[in-house]
Amino acid sequence: MSISAIIAAAGSGERFGAGIPKALIQLADRTLLEHAISSLAPVVDQIIVTAPAGFEKQISELAGEGIVVVTGGATRSASVRNSLAVATGEYVLVHDAARALASTDVAMRVIAQLQSGEVAVVPAIAVVDTIKVSDGSGFVVSTPDRATLVSIQTPQGFKTSSLRDAHASGNDATDDAGLIEAAGGKVKVIRGEERAIKITTPADLNAALSYLGLGSDVRTGVGTDAHAFGQGRELWLAGLHWPDEQGVEGHSDGDVAAHAICDALGDLGSNFGTDRPEYAGASGTRLLQECAALVKKQGFAISNVSVQIIGNRPKIGKRRGEAITAISSALGGVQVSVSATTTDGMGLTGEGKGIAAIATALVYKQ
Ligand code: CTP
Ligand code: MG
Repeated sequence: MSISAIIAAAGSGERFGAGIPKALIQLADRTLLEHAISSLAPVVDQIIVTAPAGFEKQISELAGEGIVVVTGGATRSASVRNSLAVATGEYVLVHDAARALASTDVAMRVIAQLQSGEVAVVPAIAVVDTIKVSDGSGFVVSTPDRATLVSIQTPQGFKTSSLRDAHASGNDATDDAGLIEAAGGKVKVIRGEERAIKITTPADLNAALSYLGLGSDVRTGVGTDAHAFGQGRELWLAGLHWPDEQGVEGHSDGDVAAHAICDALGDLGSNFGTDRPEYAGASGTRLLQECAALVKKQGFAISNVSVQIIGNRPKIGKRRGEAITAISSALGGVQVSVSATTTDGMGLTGEGKGIAAIATALVYKQ
């Protein structure tokens, strides 16, 4: 029994409003499209992805080798039709990239029904709201019995020849089973999955993250550090060497920005304090790497860090991009922001006696 999968990914994601096709939106470590591909790949022989016009190359690179990319049409049905033209399987699963979290298990259960002779199979879950039919001018026409209503998901499975026949009408439907129904075919309903929500707006992304077990335990940290200028010291700040600038005193290289970030991620002193001679002279970059490893060991991932450097000099502006890159790569590629300020001639750093930094970090349980 050969099976093709069509992943509809050619929508523009208007309602999501990210300015990029929805299938390319990142959910945790992968795009929605990659999630969809990885749940179907184990159970099908061919994967066809519909791409928005102009995104074929990008989607092809993302999807990887062996995946067929076709240009989508103006509607979802048109996109599916374009893909059906190149489907080689005797059976076909049609899936929305937007339902990134549908599992391999549901795909297997759809396939099992096809194996036992069904020509069209749809996963569904019970509706929780009362659904009414409205006449479009603000009045209710009827209230169907909720017990008979289900909310339909993907992947939907079909005998390929039946779906081709149904699509031959050239009609549009919001799902493929709808075309089979219109042609008088029988559609089998099986149990779907709560987690296979259709990601439509940014709020759905939060729900999806919580299905992945992410985002439920989010923590912030704050850290500060200050060092006085010292004679004969090189200046290291924000992971960078600053030639021609006076350095600061310290057990390590005195990188206050890196130290403030480490403090925000955990307690710098208790992890790498003066009682740990192996860290004497350690670079800020090395401490950041060690902190990132400790955060990971505790089962957390870093969402982002932000650091503000406080002092009259050096002037950060010109090297801000470099600083962000240095900190980010030390932390394994997380989002970083770096800013700087002076304190109007007041306090430690305003008096020009040294440099300080304040940092925040956001981490989440993996
Ligand atoms: N889709 C498609 N071709 C189209 C329209 C939609 O392949 N012409 C795909 C989408 O990429 C999505 C699925 O069909 O995976 C369901 O569509 P929807 O959730 O409506 O996604 P978008 O059309 O991208 O979103 P929006 O309607 O907000 O623009
Ligand atoms: Mg749409």
